Amino acid sequence: MRKIIINGGVNLEGIVNISGSKNSVVALIPAAILCRDIVRIYNCPHISDVIVLCEILKDLNVSVKCEEEFIEIDSSNIEYTSLVSEKMSELRASYYFMGVLLALFNQVQINLPGGCYLGPRPIDLHLKGFKTLNCDYTIDEGILHIKTNKLIGNQIFLDIASVGATINIMFASIFIEGVTVIENAAKEPEIVDIANFLNKMGANIKGAGTSKIKITGVKTLKGCSHFVIPDRIETGTYMLFGSAVAKEMIINNMNPNHLQALIAKLIESGVNLKIDNNRIIISKPEQILPINIKTAVYPGFPTDLQQIITALMTQAHGTSIISEKIYASRFKNCDELIKMGANIRIENASAIIIGPAKLSGVEVAASDLRGGASLVLAGLIAENKTTINYSEHIFRGYGDIINKLQGVGARISVK
Ligand code: EPU
Repeated sequence: MRKIIINGGVNLEGIVNISGSKNSVVALIPAAILCRDIVRIYNCPHISDVIVLCEILKDLNVSVKCEEEFIEIDSSNIEYTSLVSEKMSELRASYYFMGVLLALFNQVQINLPGGCYLGPRPIDLHLKGFKTLNCDYTIDEGILHIKTNKLIGNQIFLDIASVGATINIMFASIFIEGVTVIENAAKEPEIVDIANFLNKMGANIKGAGTSKIKITGVKTLKGCSHFVIPDRIETGTYMLFGSAVAKEMIINNMNPNHLQALIAKLIESGVNLKIDNNRIIISKPEQILPINIKTAVYPGFPTDLQQIITALMTQAHGTSIISEKIYASRFKNCDELIKMGANIRIENASAIIIGPAKLSGVEVAASDLRGGASLVLAGLIAENKTTINYSEHIFRGYGDIINKLQGVGARISVK
């Protein structure tokens, strides 16, 4: 078990550089093998999910070189194998091998995906999509087997605009003769990044970033280089850290267009921020005002920042209501925040937060990635020592978080 230790109460000051997007790169790595050629991915975050995905590639006889500036994936000698191993259950994004291996080999055998516990996380929309493309599947003791004689293009309507299902169906459709259409597709910036990457390799995808994506099948793909977009959730996380405890924090290499919902809410709560092209300068206000938020699919307020803004709102002067509309049980961090002194109650998938609360450092546990980040924020506020157990969750998605926070003056370390 890894622990993060924070001695809080320090005003942060300095520059934080944002890494490449986790939720983009975890799809780009499986997608890279669609070309059976060499791909270089630049701006890859240093996170454990990337390491696990690269290990999975090796099982498919794909070679991976991790350099300082890029990772190079050579899939010229790829061989089909069943992907049943513990590694697969370590992360959610292992499910992208479904679409990719179906496109390459017409079959895939895989563990059901793992990842953070946020309440039920079904993959029925992925499977319904594959079925519409002429696949059959069975699930036996946690192992999913999907196969087809031939993928056939079709029109797929997603009941929910699911990020993972949209990406997986794009992958499966890449080589299908004719046109496949995804209706009610997810519109997240990561989807645009992944479609751009596939198009660079020679795919023909139109409409990514809108609710209708059209994939016209191509015969083959070729290698390319790609620079991953900035991580909007990491950016948002540091913006929230800055809103709580920064004298002045400059957040570099970010894209403000991807964070309009958060920016609007922070302005409403009185936070001082200045946007300057690809950087944002942020400092804590004299008084944080309470706000109400409902999470929503992009461009709405991201569920991935819900737990972290909840920690910030413990410091607001008044009552905030934060309603979770994507994952009804994404509140496990609140028990830990309460241990630190927060006044929060959960009702009907909403957190009702009464502030300001004086937070004190105690021993807490990270239950998931973003819940872990919310405890880091609380630890930065609390005046004494906070120990965050099970910090592995945090390292799954925040590259170099300890160095980045030490760089702006935080007293934080890892054990
Ligand atoms: N859903 C279904 N059936 C499906 C798929 C999704 O009912 O087959 C439901 C989910 O239960 C959820 C909603 O649809 O209520 C949206 O889920 P979505 O499929 O969009 O989520 P995901 O693809 O599994 C990605 C990110 C999550 C992020 C969500 C929502 C990756 C690897 N994960 O998950 O990121 O919360 O989109 O934006 O891209 C994180 O980074 O901490 C994280 C959890």
